[in-house]
Amino acid sequence: MNQHEYFGFGSIKNLKTILDEGNQRNIFLVSGGKSYKSSGAEQELSKILAPYTITRFYNFSPNPKLEDVEKGIDVFKREEQDLVIAVGGGSVIDMAKLINSLSAQPGNPEDYAIGKKIESMGNPLIAIPTTSGAGSEATHFAVVYIGKTKYSLGHQEWMLPRYVFLDPALTFDLPKYITASTGIDALCQAIESYWSTQSTGESKKYARQAIPLILANLTAAVNAPSPKNREVMLLGANLAGKAINISKTTACHSVSYPITSYFGVSHGHACALTLGEMCLFNSKVTENDCLDKRGAKYVQQNLSELCSLFQTQTPEQLQHKIHQLINQIGLNTKLTDLNITAPEHHDLIVANGFNPERVKNNPRELTEIALRNILKRIS
Ligand SMILES: [Fe+2]
Repeated sequence: MNQHEYFGFGSIKNLKTILDEGNQRNIFLVSGGKSYKSSGAEQELSKILAPYTITRFYNFSPNPKLEDVEKGIDVFKREEQDLVIAVGGGSVIDMAKLINSLSAQPGNPEDYAIGKKIESMGNPLIAIPTTSGAGSEATHFAVVYIGKTKYSLGHQEWMLPRYVFLDPALTFDLPKYITASTGIDALCQAIESYWSTQSTGESKKYARQAIPLILANLTAAVNAPSPKNREVMLLGANLAGKAINISKTTACHSVSYPITSYFGVSHGHACALTLGEMCLFNSKVTENDCLDKRGAKYVQQNLSELCSLFQTQTPEQLQHKIHQLINQIGLNTKLTDLNITAPEHHDLIVANGFNPERVKNNPRELTEIALRNILKRIS
């Protein structure tokens, strides 16, 4: 299925044309709570959506939980829905993907969340991001938590949003911390995509485009937001989303999930904590611990290309530059500053940080000892 994309200031207005061409009556709208209004989306959409019967679902916590998805499915099924629109950040778009696709399955939602294959297509999905980070609008998968454990659900064709509206004006109101956290998520995704064992020429092209855009604009978007840097960040995040749609993410994302679910650190921030260290770790790959079939030399070449994209010479300088960037955007870089202090805390991260779908994409095998060392260095 092809995705149709509208990009630029005012692009959200094109939604009217798309809806005029369709024959939907009932629309299921998934959105953030406060952000739906504060982003300006409500004002833009209220007229466009006025002719339709809208069921809005918005009362759920970030990082989609299965119980919230099930609540959403109950609300969804009260009407015969024709179309789903998601307006919000990555959690909102993931939630819309989950409700839409799981409502269409004959079985229990939990079974699909833990790995059963999706058997039928849901309604067409339209994604309108109001953050610049997750890139969920560009991917065919969604994250869901059952208890503290993260699962990823995907379908190559049926979960990718059919239409995407990337209107930078909707990101103007993003608070500083969310701009930083979602923006660094996009950078992590681009870097991890670049070294992923599942990377392709196409995914690397997207990541190569995303990295300089994010690097040149993230600090300013956080500390001195302007229409221009908001616009470029939205584009950079979308390109990073397109990159991971092909390659998936790797060790930083894998380790981040328990940091988010047990310690409440927001997703992008949690990913960023190990990013610099993981650059260094992956740069020391050998044939003995290389997971990429293309070999250790290929992985080292990727690392040296990443150094060039960051205008650095060595992985140590790359690590330093990433550390500086995270500081500049006001995020803590130390676990102790995030109340992750005790040895049991590290045990919890190690016990739950090896997400099999993600660590296997890391170019160098991450052992328990290596992860413990990384956690120690960022304490
Ligand atoms: Fe992410």
